[in-house]
Amino acid sequence: MEPEPRPRVELFEGPEVPPIADPEPDVSRETPPTAAATATLPRPTHTRVIVIANQKGGVGKTTTAVNIAAALAQGGLRVLLIDVDPQGNASTALGVDHREGIRGTYEVLLDRDAIAWHAVASGEAPNLLVLPATIDLAAAELDLVAVAGRERRLADALDAYLRDHEPDYVILDCPPSLGLLTLNGLVAATEILIPIQTEYYALEGVSQLMRTIDLVTQNLNDHLQLSTVILTMYDARTRLSAQVADEVRRHFPEQTLATVVPRSVRIAEAPSYGQTVMTYHAQSAGAEAYRAIAREIAERGARG
Ligand SMILES: Nc1ncnc2c1ncn2[C@@H]1O[C@H](COP(=O)(O)OP(=O)(O)OP(=O)(O)O)[C@@H](O)[C@H]1O
Ligand SMILES: [Mg+2]
Repeated sequence: MEPEPRPRVELFEGPEVPPIADPEPDVSRETPPTAAATATLPRPTHTRVIVIANQKGGVGKTTTAVNIAAALAQGGLRVLLIDVDPQGNASTALGVDHREGIRGTYEVLLDRDAIAWHAVASGEAPNLLVLPATIDLAAAELDLVAVAGRERRLADALDAYLRDHEPDYVILDCPPSLGLLTLNGLVAATEILIPIQTEYYALEGVSQLMRTIDLVTQNLNDHLQLSTVILTMYDARTRLSAQVADEVRRHFPEQTLATVVPRSVRIAEAPSYGQTVMTYHAQSAGAEAYRAIAREIAERGARG
């Protein structure tokens, strides 16, 4: 099917200030073509396993996970995203089937299936694989309780995967809780990335998360480091956003990235088309932000 022509956006043609809204995206295609990748980002010196966690709900974990994954892969890197959330929102946004009965993270955790058996390609970028999560994963929080080494199941599966595969990045998207699923993510990772929504009470809950990270590093995974903090849903028009950003930067001066993610309708719309904002609207402010974030992350990784 021929894509419909994009509405023409008149920029700089009149005496008026150009519109600041992003132009309308092209959503006429049923399935997005595999987006192109150009080798523009530096490779890390070793596979980086980044867990995206914050037990607070709706702060932008999944949005950050899928858009960073797509941006890194579009930048020429090999990326595996593991959906560790029974909501399966990351699988949805990456256009991957995750209806009940589809095999993925649950089978890896409970049946010891290999990650490679169930990881599927996303059309959002070349070299982007996704291990999908279905609603079946909701049972894993309970089903894991009786299992030996229950908090190491994902780490074991990933160790096995990394013996035969060499992705540059593995991104883990966690649910909004500090239960066994998130714990598996924290134990499997070498780095933690915390998205913080730029709003009042932004840091509430982060101290509890920090205590959990301490417990994990002392008892289960001493490789885990808080490497990255990202400010999400930043609204440049409000003083509150600027104040919260200052406060977060004071708490995490090393870890907070320079780029903030703006509050953007395009970012919020993309998942309903089974897309990331990186393909849904590659020129939007949200996509620009996630591209800059991917570059910041990749450049830090390349330094060591
Ligand atoms: N920068 C943004 N601008 C506008 N909307 C956003 C932005 N980031 C995320 N959203 C929207 O906010 C909601 C929550 O985002 P998201 O699902 O990424 O959060 P989450 O932390 O993964 O949530 P959960 O805790 O349920 O897993 C979603 O509807 C998402 O589309
Ligand atoms: Mg989520």
